[in-house]
Amino acid sequence: MTLNEFLNQAWNRYVDLAPDALVIHKLLEERGERIQNDHIAFRTFNLKGIGRMDLGKIFENWGYQRVKEDLDFPAKKLKASYFLHSDPTLPKIFISELLLEQFSFELQSWIKEIVSQNLTLNAKEGDFFLRDSWSAISFEDYQRFYSESEYAAWTAAFGIQVNHFTLLVNSLKTFSTLQELNLFLGKVGIVLNEAGGVVKGTPTELLEQSSTLAKKVDWTFASGKRHKVMGCYYEFARRYLVPGEKKLFEGFIPKSADKIFESTYEKSGLKPEV
Ligand code: NI
Repeated sequence: MTLNEFLNQAWNRYVDLAPDALVIHKLLEERGERIQNDHIAFRTFNLKGIGRMDLGKIFENWGYQRVKEDLDFPAKKLKASYFLHSDPTLPKIFISELLLEQFSFELQSWIKEIVSQNLTLNAKEGDFFLRDSWSAISFEDYQRFYSESEYAAWTAAFGIQVNHFTLLVNSLKTFSTLQELNLFLGKVGIVLNEAGGVVKGTPTELLEQSSTLAKKVDWTFASGKRHKVMGCYYEFARRYLVPGEKKLFEGFIPKSADKIFESTYEKSGLKPEV
């Protein structure tokens, strides 16, 4: 599978869980925009075979290089790595992993049990992200562990697949700022994540980001039971030139990303509806 084939298939799978992303693409294409991805993000657990470095290898095989900087999210109990390609038109890859040892024994056992159901769960090639990672989890477990870690519940339910795509605002021709784009999205009825303010980051930090609030999607849980749970969101990033250099800032700002993670939270708070 080539990287482009993977990106196309991952997008198709992702928009089922992020219907807003498809709507936004259509609206922007009608304005004559050609959209470039800034980054694609994945959620995983720090377990052997599926940790952020394991998943990163798939992208290293496609010519990506890991940036040797660990991003820490102590409040969310996460670490993340990111990977860049020498072709700047290709999306950056952002992979976070939940630090399971920092959670209750019950949550750890739950995740290990789910993951161990699939003995072939060893990330090697891109199609790893395009199929179900493990059997459907029970909705009761999803609810039970949601308040301890929304991240764990989301990843257990959806498996290891794209969590969000990100539009590079710099690639747009009919919008010159992220704020303008946000205003446009608001007018067409797209709901944005307001945790920490709509725009996270500043020009001084060289990165401004915003994101939609995930919508509820129908998802299959154990015994074929369907429930509406928060799916994926779409992110927007505007990057600034690194002072004294002729290139855009390529990194991430943990303080901003921390709030972006909350784009899959239910508005009413952490507890999922029954
Ligand atoms: Ni992101």
